[in-house]
This record gives sequence, structure tokens and C-alpha cells, in this order.
Amino acid sequence: MRRPGRADYAEGMTSAAAIILAAGLGTRMRSSLPKVMHPIAGRPMLNHLLASAQQVFDRAVIVTGPDMPQVEKAAAPHPTVVQADRLGTAHAALQAAPALAGFAGDAAVLYGDCPLITPATMRRLREARAGAGLVLLAMRPADPGRYGRLVQDATGAVTRIVEWADATEAERAIGLCNAGVLCAPAPDLFRWLRAVRNDNAKGEYYLTDIVALAHAEGVHVAAVEAEEAELRGVNSRVELAEAEAEVQRALRRAAMEGGATLIQPESVVFAWDTALGRDVTIGPSVVFGPGVTVEDGVEIRAFSHLEGCVVRQGAVIGPFARLRPGTRIGAGAHVGNFVELKAAVLGEGAKANHLSYLGDAAIGAGANIGAGTITCNYDGVAKHRTEIGAGAFIGSDTALVAPVRIGARALVGAGSVITEDVPDDALAIARGRQATKPGRGVKGRKG
Ligand code: UD1
Ligand code: MG
Repeated sequence: MRRPGRADYAEGMTSAAAIILAAGLGTRMRSSLPKVMHPIAGRPMLNHLLASAQQVFDRAVIVTGPDMPQVEKAAAPHPTVVQADRLGTAHAALQAAPALAGFAGDAAVLYGDCPLITPATMRRLREARAGAGLVLLAMRPADPGRYGRLVQDATGAVTRIVEWADATEAERAIGLCNAGVLCAPAPDLFRWLRAVRNDNAKGEYYLTDIVALAHAEGVHVAAVEAEEAELRGVNSRVELAEAEAEVQRALRRAAMEGGATLIQPESVVFAWDTALGRDVTIGPSVVFGPGVTVEDGVEIRAFSHLEGCVVRQGAVIGPFARLRPGTRIGAGAHVGNFVELKAAVLGEGAKANHLSYLGDAAIGAGANIGAGTITCNYDGVAKHRTEIGAGAFIGSDTALVAPVRIGARALVGAGSVITEDVPDDALAIARGRQATKPGRGVKGRKG
């Protein structure tokens, strides 16, 4: 988390804390996973939000529910406080009060299920505090649905927020919606939160009720508007898919702007951290899991699936290749169709072009792995390693029973089951000898 720097004070900004609400059960998700742990582009919603918040706020407190160890782990090293009873968003925010005791700076409340807010918008929220005692983020979604609505007076000042469940038809017709993010001096915020009551449709303590409380004290409440794309809330699987689509659009655009060619962009799925070099070409329906780095000039052909791997300059992957975590593909190497690598290092210029499984293996530069080669890395109890030297040639349909080592430049005959090490430069053949019987092919067969 960024510490307050001199520059903040020079600009007149006080220190600010973020309170992130993540205790909700996410009933509408119908899931045993806490809502904020559902991933978008391979990263939990909570971590998307934290990554942005820590660029803008000096500290963060995460409000979790009881029995949510995953949330606590994902939030680390930021402190968490537990909301034992889920009595509503105001009650949740209030749980952060002891953790922020004596803190006189600004406090912003953010919802863990509203994960796509950009740091730039968070900064606008903070800056708007110069002109208002309470600032909130608002949007005008294409479909306002069940969002809370902002009620304004004739001057445009926000007087209250009405929740969808409590709103009249006229209020539901209001297009300006509450994104759920607000910012105020911490002592004011906690004073208002303590005054919130639960006499509403849901019997919950609504965070949104602090707007009317602040207004009644004569405090100016201002709304900062931003795009729905970054303020959307995720309450259901349908909304999760919409948020995913939004993020994927942004990631594809960034990939292309960074110098990658996407032949059919809408079919490519990225992870939040996919790193692409320049002049990378990505074919249709390629999927990236987290932790992938692709260097310059690489071609990834259609229907390949990559996660937790590095692909060095000029390598060619796929079509239909699968690179699993711990895999390193050397410069100019080739991985062809129906080839799976797991924790395997493929040396520079090496080739595994057809129908192979290479797991827990190190393959030297320029080696050629024939079609159908399999490393038998698992004996039912433990995993074992296979090493293949530089320039080795493994014939088709070879089973390499690990642990085993094939020397540099060695040649293994097709169809071998290799159980013993093969020295450098040697030829190894391990298969039944062919028997050919003249005439026997037709004898006894009816004509
Ligand atoms: C909330 C707002 C609504 C706004 C919308 C924006 C309230 C009362 N309503 O509605 O005005 O338009 O978000 O997306 O705030 N949470 C807790 N403890 C609780 C209840 C909720 O930590 O007791 C957390 C949830 O994990 C979630 C966040 O607070 O991250 C928001 O709760 P949710 O139930 O999703 O509120 P909405 O109905 O979406
Ligand atoms: Mg919500």
C-alpha cells in the first residue's frame, strides 16, 4: 500500500483510508464461494478492487463475514475485520470503526462486488471532497435495474438515496444510480453510520441512508459520475459474465494497442496479467490463464490454452496446444497440435510437433520429440523427472519412463519404452523385434 507522500499534502490532500465491504453472502450468485472471490479474468473481484484502491488510498480495511478464510487470505496483507451478523451495508462499514480509531482523514467505502472502478475515478472521488462534505460515485446505466437511485433537489444537490426495494414508481424512473462508493471525513462517516436505522423494505441498515443524514445536517453531498463499465455491480452469474465481457474487451484492446495481432479478437480470452510482446500473433479461440508471458514475434495458433508459462521470442505454439504451469518454451521452439507440456522446459529451437505429453521434463536445445512421445512422469505415488539432452532425437510413440535421462544427440528408435538412461550420442531401441513370415498373411483366409 502506498504511504502518504509529501506530494499528497502539497496538493492539499489528506490521508485517506478505504473500507472494502466483502462480508455479503452473495445469495444471488447461488454459490458456496464468497461473492467477492469469484474471478474476473482469472483474478478474484476483491483483488481487482484492492489493486486499484492501493494506488489511491493510504490504507485499506476489508470487512469479511464469519467463516470466510479465503477472503482473509486474498485480502492479506491488508487487515480484515469480521461482520458477525450481516445486517446491511451500513452495519458492515461500521465494523471498520475500531480499526480506524483516531483516524481523522477521509474514509471511502467501496463494495467488493463493484470491482472495476479505475484508480483515476477513485482519485476524482477524493478530489471532489474539497467541495463537499460527502461525495459519492454515480452512473447512468443503460438498464438501471435494482440499483439505488439518487434523489436531487432543484440545485442538483443530492438529498437522499432510495433503494430499489423501497422506491416508488416515480423514483424508480430516475436514471442516476448509486454505484455504492462514497467518501467523507472518517469521524463524520462513522457518526452517520451509527445513526442509520433499519426501518425499510429489507429490514437492513443501508449505507445509502447516510446521504439523507448528512443532508439534514446541512452538509453538501456531491455526486461524481463515471461510466457504467467501471461502476457496475456484480450480484449474479449473469452480471459476472457481463463484467467479464467488459474486462475482456479492455484486455484485447490493450493487447492490440501493445503490438499484438488478434485474428479474431472476440474469441480470445485473456487473464488480468497476460503479458505480450510486440508482433505476437494470436489465432482464434486462444485462452490464457493467469501467469503467462509471451515474448516478441511468437505465434500462438488457434485453440491453444496457456497458463503459468513463458514463451520466448519467435516460438510457434499450436494449433490445439496446451501449456500448463511451470512450462518454459525456448526461443524459436515449436509446439504443435495436441501437445501438452506441464512443468517442462523446451530448449531453444526444440520441436514437439504432434500428439505428446511432456511433464516434469527438461528438453535441450534443438531436440526433436517425435509424434506420440509420452513422459511417464507419475508412478501412482510420486512424480519423476525426464531429461533430454540437446540435439537428441526421440522417435515416434516413445514412452520415457521417468526418472530417466536421454543424452545429448542420442537417438531413440520409434515405439520404444525407455526405462534406462541413454548416454550422449548413443542409439537406443527398446521394442519387440519384427517377425515377417512370407506367405503367412493370406494362408487360411477365405478368398
Ligand atoms: C448496493 C447499494 C445500492 C447500489 C448497489 C451498487 C445499499 C443498501 N445498496 O446494493 O444503492 O446501487 O450496491 O452496486 O448499500 N455487504 C456486507 N455486509 C452486509 C451486506 C452487504 O459486507 O451485511 C457487502 C457485500 O459483500 C457487497 C456489498 O456490501 O460487496 C454490497 O452489498 P449488496 O448486497 O450487493 O448490495 P446491493 O443490493 O448490490
Ligand atoms: Mg451488489
